[in-house]
Amino acid sequence: MSEEQFIFHPDSEPIKDGKVTWRSPSNIALVKYWGKKANQIPANPSLSFTLNACATRTSLSYTQRKHYADDFSFDLYFEGSQKEDFKPKINTFFKRIAPYVPFIKDVHLTIETSNSFPHSSGIASSASGMSALALCLMDIERQMDTTMTLDFFHRKASFLARLGSGSACRSIEGDLVHWGSHEDTVGSSDLYGIKYPYTVHEVFKNYHDTILLVDKGQKQVSSTVGHDLMHAHPFAQNRFDQAHENLTKLKTILVEGNLPEFVKIVESEALTLHAMMMTSLPYFILMKPNTLAIINKIWAFRESSNTNVCFTLDAGANVHVLYPQNEHKVVYQFIKDELVVYCENGQYLCDRIGFGAKKINS
Ligand code: DP6
Repeated sequence: MSEEQFIFHPDSEPIKDGKVTWRSPSNIALVKYWGKKANQIPANPSLSFTLNACATRTSLSYTQRKHYADDFSFDLYFEGSQKEDFKPKINTFFKRIAPYVPFIKDVHLTIETSNSFPHSSGIASSASGMSALALCLMDIERQMDTTMTLDFFHRKASFLARLGSGSACRSIEGDLVHWGSHEDTVGSSDLYGIKYPYTVHEVFKNYHDTILLVDKGQKQVSSTVGHDLMHAHPFAQNRFDQAHENLTKLKTILVEGNLPEFVKIVESEALTLHAMMMTSLPYFILMKPNTLAIINKIWAFRESSNTNVCFTLDAGANVHVLYPQNEHKVVYQFIKDELVVYCENGQYLCDRIGFGAKKINS
């Protein structure tokens, strides 16, 4: 689908006052998105597990504006309190999506949002937050266009979410989502995420992700700055090619349930992401000593226990520990015995693969 197909042409009832609520999860990339072109177009395709427990709940109330104005009128509440400092990001988002959802200028919006995970956990809320807001807006659009298919609803929600934050376009559905044009992935697009279109082995169902909160502080480098640094990066093209190759390899690995090969790609992707940060100009290191201590412990345990536990990282120091359901007992015990000690205040979050966003009926 092209961008033009996402432009809303009102030919039905005008928007009425109302309120919608959605809960949208976070996601963790197996093949990482790092580097983008103009208009939130990814430099390479990516693949993620949708999560379940880490999520944002957003309510959007809308009332007709008295007079037309060529701007946006909205209030924003985060966990019950008005948040002025979040507003510029939402304003930028609205500017980007207004051509596709022009009705947002006709209403005053009240956004009430909260996360299931602690705000200062170092867990990025942009994926769950932007996708929840995009879904609320699509819900309003659907009320004016009753012929809309569920497929279009998901696609456009993902398309809008991408314009808020790239990785957010992978949070609409589950349990595995692919985003970005890739020769070997049918239906793939740079404009939105799609449910992974191939067979996935049973072993990947119910996969666990225990998130170890190594450093709960503010990110040293925003992902926007990080993506930008890929423009003049000496290894960028090789990295983008590698993401394509890894996705092609994963196709067979996911069908076969080949966990040793899965582990190799997932860990290599995480380390490559950080290697890109370490070799950009300016360069930076987002891992902390405890991140490395955890990685080494995981490697030693994997060897001695003959399990398939592995790690991945996002753009920060926290470690996502991934493992299949049939190894849950032994790996979770290992995490409690040997890894939690490296977490800030012993904090960690237990999550697992999930099936996407849900509408909350009031
Ligand atoms: C390292 O989606 O946060 O988590 O598009 O600028 O909002 P923006 O970036 P963002 O980048 C996520 C990068 C990553 C890898 C990934 O999720 O694929």
